[in-house]
Amino acid sequence: MKVFRGEILYFVDDPAVVGIEQSYHYFTDGILIVENGHIKAVGCSEQLLPTIADKQDIIHYPNSLILPGFVDTHVHYPQTEMIASYGEQLLAWLEHYTYPVEEKFADFDYAQAVARFFLQQLLQAGTTTALVFATVHKSSVEAFFSVAQQKKLRMICGKVLMDRNCPETLQDTAESGYQESKALIQAWHKKDRLQYAITPRFAPTCSQEQLNKAGQLLAEYPDVYLHTHLCESEAEIAWVKKLFPQHNGYLDVYDQSHLLGRRSIFAHGVHLQDAECQRLAQTQSAIAFCPTSNLFLGSGLFNLSQAEQHNVNLGLGTDVGAGTSFSLLRTMAEAYKIQQLRGDKFDPYKAFYLATLGGAKALDLQDNIGNFMQGKEADFIVINYQQSDLLAKRIHKANNLTEKLFALTMLADERHIIATYILGELAEI
Ligand code: GUN
Ligand code: ZN
Repeated sequence: MKVFRGEILYFVDDPAVVGIEQSYHYFTDGILIVENGHIKAVGCSEQLLPTIADKQDIIHYPNSLILPGFVDTHVHYPQTEMIASYGEQLLAWLEHYTYPVEEKFADFDYAQAVARFFLQQLLQAGTTTALVFATVHKSSVEAFFSVAQQKKLRMICGKVLMDRNCPETLQDTAESGYQESKALIQAWHKKDRLQYAITPRFAPTCSQEQLNKAGQLLAEYPDVYLHTHLCESEAEIAWVKKLFPQHNGYLDVYDQSHLLGRRSIFAHGVHLQDAECQRLAQTQSAIAFCPTSNLFLGSGLFNLSQAEQHNVNLGLGTDVGAGTSFSLLRTMAEAYKIQQLRGDKFDPYKAFYLATLGGAKALDLQDNIGNFMQGKEADFIVINYQQSDLLAKRIHKANNLTEKLFALTMLADERHIIATYILGELAEI
């Protein structure tokens, strides 16, 4: 048993649905008790301290906020090393920068070294679970899972499916993609805390046959994930219309191949029709909102209020390497600015909800992670207010929790994450 003490915050529901006051639990001086890697109890120190025998063993974090680990609902591990590539929007960026880098992941050792670096970056940023794109190479997934397993992480990953409109060296076929994905599911899905995502890159690089095969595989393994991109940029949407003229829009391409559902996650959704939002909600599919990427590639301003009105499941994604930071804190800041440009609000409770329980719900992992309810896996982080002078000063002037959280979203980043715990054990960061 391990006991932690500090300021503690976690969410129990969506502040936009139940109201801010009902959405979170907060203890200015809290105690978190972990047993066998899972949450045993959480509460205020007045109540819980008397129940603890060995008070000298309590791990105390003053001037810090203890939160559930962040959940990144969309990121590409092979793109780690080409983050910050200049000057292009989505389609040219893929051709000029992304595909050449992904070709290197045919080499298992190379892929494993990048996976190790990538997961270290995630832990340093306070991210403990992610939904991750690999490359078209089967071994790129094996490399990723082998490292994630060593680190005892809850991670979801999948082999990219793409059989057209990209370099030939990066193409699989509808059949080989299906067979290799199936072999990976059998080898890795639900091994420890690892889970598999069937991962068609996006409609433009997948033939109709490949999308149909992906749907067939999903029907055979209904508890795996489906992970792809959707309605990210105007040029991409126009291309999909050209490639699939008989379909009723971009989402319909995936829908007709039976790819929507409770464990289907679509990255971006920047330009969605109301009917598409309705269909996403109806099928309980989720959108990964990736603000740093949408700004970096000039893709557009995500319509959060539209998604909320239609009750679409939502998480935050970094989308590195189109995203410009692994930090969900930096991601929250850019999400706020995008909503400002739309004339909409993005309050800090919603931001921290989406980065924790909201992300967990988007990934159908709300029974495993996302908050400190008893029995959940003890993945949590410690954000220290004093790791930069500016944040320390601003927090000192904060009059209430709202101001404090908002200052964190604007000013904090990976420098302020002083500890990341995986199943109650301190990870090396
Ligand atoms: N659409 C298809 N592939 C990609 C990718 O690698 N990154 C982003 N941001 N969008 C994509
Ligand atoms: Zn992406």
